[in-house]
Amino acid sequence: MSTLPFSSLETLIQALPKAELHIHIEGSFEPELMFVIAQRNGIKLPYPDVKAIEQAYHFSDLQSFLDIYYAGAQVLLKEPDFYDLTWAYLTRVAQDNVRHVELFFDPQTHTDRGVPLLDVIEGIYRALKQAEVELGITSRMILCFLRHLSVEQAMETLQKALPFKDKITAVGLDSSEKGNPPEQFKAVFDAARLAGFLTVAHAGEEGPPEYIWQALEQLKVSRIDHGVRCDEDPKLIRHLAQHNIPLTVCPLSNVKLRVFENLSQHNLKTLLEEGLCITLNSDDPAYFGGYMNQNFLETSKALDLSAEQIVQLAKNSFTASFLKEEEKRKHQREIDAIFQVWEEAQSSID
Ligand code: HPA
Ligand code: ZN
Repeated sequence: MSTLPFSSLETLIQALPKAELHIHIEGSFEPELMFVIAQRNGIKLPYPDVKAIEQAYHFSDLQSFLDIYYAGAQVLLKEPDFYDLTWAYLTRVAQDNVRHVELFFDPQTHTDRGVPLLDVIEGIYRALKQAEVELGITSRMILCFLRHLSVEQAMETLQKALPFKDKITAVGLDSSEKGNPPEQFKAVFDAARLAGFLTVAHAGEEGPPEYIWQALEQLKVSRIDHGVRCDEDPKLIRHLAQHNIPLTVCPLSNVKLRVFENLSQHNLKTLLEEGLCITLNSDDPAYFGGYMNQNFLETSKALDLSAEQIVQLAKNSFTASFLKEEEKRKHQREIDAIFQVWEEAQSSID
């Protein structure tokens, strides 16, 4: 029976069209490419080889990861560096049948080193446009403010980004969550919405449910990035379900950063069963050991997700996206058709 299409969850996951909504482009920086770009820019990495880099990737919490993640990004200097980084990610996820990406980038990580914002945005955007033509992947860009830096610096970054408004769909909030509550950035997000940007924010990864409330009520976000600590507040769960506010959940990331001890303890399945619009994403795949399908596969196995639940996650990824309704429906019809073939294959196995 193994020759049948969709004879395993792995083949189903592979076949499903998916959107990735929580990916930091700097977090897709593979060690091999890091060495190539470092050499090209005449920068010496503090590691002798790729293996030594990989061995450094042991994290105890979000901050221990961020320290290494920001260090890796230091070798990105010019437009072609941002293009190569983004193109490498896109060609990789094309293999996972990702059809749409909404990617985060951290301008302050680069502009604070003297890299012009123009080079960052143009490099990423050039790869995204090429992917639309050559890989059939559509995209949106989300500019993230670093919450460990000041509100004034975030506001300055927003002002600098205004000339690139046509290329950027939304603004987000990332970096060290604990002690940096969303409400601090209310004025920046008000200004961003006034300028026409949508808003999202990382909240409830390490921070308390209160930070999720603040992101919703003060930053008026369309969706919450991570948000897994919502399960500590039943009223919040009800609110997220009733208002169809999606969570962009990243299971392999959560285990690597010790938000959950292991995948089988992850609350993704419970949240799905509570009726929340849960999406599954890779976050920083070069650091956390897996791109989209690896996240789908390992999570499905660890939590014993049903085929229906896997299909629901794929459909949710489009529902939660910033695509137009007709584009969402086109992908979802394809998902429905694939699920039908899957079910027919199952009944012929039974
Ligand atoms: N959380 C906060 N900031 C980040 C992350 C994350 O998971 N990845 C990259 N920047
Ligand atoms: Zn993230």
